[in-house]
Amino acid sequence: MPKTALITGASSGLGAEFARQLAATGADLVLVARDRAALDAVAAKVRARYGVAVEVLPADLLKRRHLAKVIARLSEPERPIELLVNNAGFGLPLDFAANDIEDEVRHLHLHVEVPMRLSHAALAQMLPRGRGRIINVASVAGFIPRATYGACKGWLISFSRWANDRYAAQGVTTTAVCPGYTHTNFHERMGLARGKEGVPAWMWLDARTVVAEGLRDAAHGKGVSVPSLRYRALIALTRLVPASVAIRFGERGR
Ligand SMILES: NC(=O)c1ccc[n+]([C@@H]2O[C@H](COP(=O)([O-])OP(=O)(O)OC[C@H]3O[C@@H](n4cnc5c(N)ncnc54)[C@H](OP(=O)(O)O)[C@@H]3O)[C@@H](O)[C@H]2O)c1
Repeated sequence: MPKTALITGASSGLGAEFARQLAATGADLVLVARDRAALDAVAAKVRARYGVAVEVLPADLLKRRHLAKVIARLSEPERPIELLVNNAGFGLPLDFAANDIEDEVRHLHLHVEVPMRLSHAALAQMLPRGRGRIINVASVAGFIPRATYGACKGWLISFSRWANDRYAAQGVTTTAVCPGYTHTNFHERMGLARGKEGVPAWMWLDARTVVAEGLRDAAHGKGVSVPSLRYRALIALTRLVPASVAIRFGERGR
């Protein structure tokens, strides 16, 4: 298990769960998100419970200066980061044509450019050390077309699969963890009250299971991890049906 992990979007949902489960293995943490108070609360809990060292690094990853701070932390050779979890994200309504284009650009930036820049900085340290791990939190939507969200997550899956193949022999693995619908703050932040997302109960996963399966697959060096048998079956099924049917299915929810 890594000595120190840096997690983006660690103030809530899956990121906070990655923090808890990694701390439980004894890993020290660097927690990144905008909400300092929420990060402090996660940090205080894991410090008290697991006795690990936790740095809080508040940053809006969409701001160049803030992103530079995170890249600088990843680039410190004397305090190596052995696991990078690219997790920060947010959702937009599915009607691309009706969305504000600047919101779409921010969405693309946070889901693609930010993890690309952070992965590049992490690899620069990890490859010479001959060890390291990157987890990119993608989505089942990366397999089933779903507006620009699915396109961004598809980029992460394709990149992770390639990077894992390219750099695993040099000791650095990359894993795209692809959750289905998971109970976090993601949907509420989009203005959808819990239970009003238009998604049947059986499709919901809990963050604990998603993170446990994702970490296990990353430890096994897998390029892609799809938590839960039901979503692995669903993805296999959507490959057998015409693209238009898969797209209708992908539009469920929100
Ligand atoms: N929940 C699902 O159903 C689901 C399914 C598949 C994939 N995912 C993916 O899982 C990841 C985590 O989402 P979640 O479900 O855990 O949602 P969440 O509870 O809303 O957490 C999102 C995290 O991203 C951070 N964040 C958002 N904008 C940021 C910015 N500009 N700079 C820094 N941090 C930022 C938020 O922190 P601050 O607000 O404090 O900045 C928060 O910690 C996302 O990439 C999402 O696409 C979620």
